[in-house]
Amino acid sequence: MFATASLAHLSKTEQYRHLAQQARALMEGETDRIANAANMAALVMHSLSELNWAGFYFYDGTELVLGPFQGKPACLRIPLSKGVCGAAATTRQAQCVADVHAFPGHIACDAASRSELVIPLFYQEQLVGVWDLDSPVPARFDAEDQAGMQVLCDIYMHAVHKK
Ligand code: SME
Repeated sequence: MFATASLAHLSKTEQYRHLAQQARALMEGETDRIANAANMAALVMHSLSELNWAGFYFYDGTELVLGPFQGKPACLRIPLSKGVCGAAATTRQAQCVADVHAFPGHIACDAASRSELVIPLFYQEQLVGVWDLDSPVPARFDAEDQAGMQVLCDIYMHAVHKK
């Protein structure tokens, strides 16, 4: 159906331009939040290099609960007071962590993870969940990744809230 290929040979700007185009095409006409989340995780994991985990945690009103992802099995539930994911959810700010070992309260789901990027998701200012990326490479993510992932999250949130 949809050809997903590594974008590693392109510049970061080009990678995110392609990813945004592909995400829009994949989610076109689909509003199911699980189906779109599953494809977003697969798209990103298979397109970008140096990732060992990409996926969602959804807020159930109390804590963050594991959603669709690619990577090793991960912790099922994260309290808002814990981890990089909890920090993104409570501060309402993306967390770009160059060295997860230096982040107080980091939750190590995969011992290989060295850096992490978490984007919080909101609908009408209410917390919906977080989009979480892990890398085995220290300082894998920069401001351009954060901006590019924010665009992908916006595409996702727009798709799942279309009536
Ligand atoms: N490291 C995250 C937990 C989720 S896993 O990385 C998949 C955290 O500290 O919140």
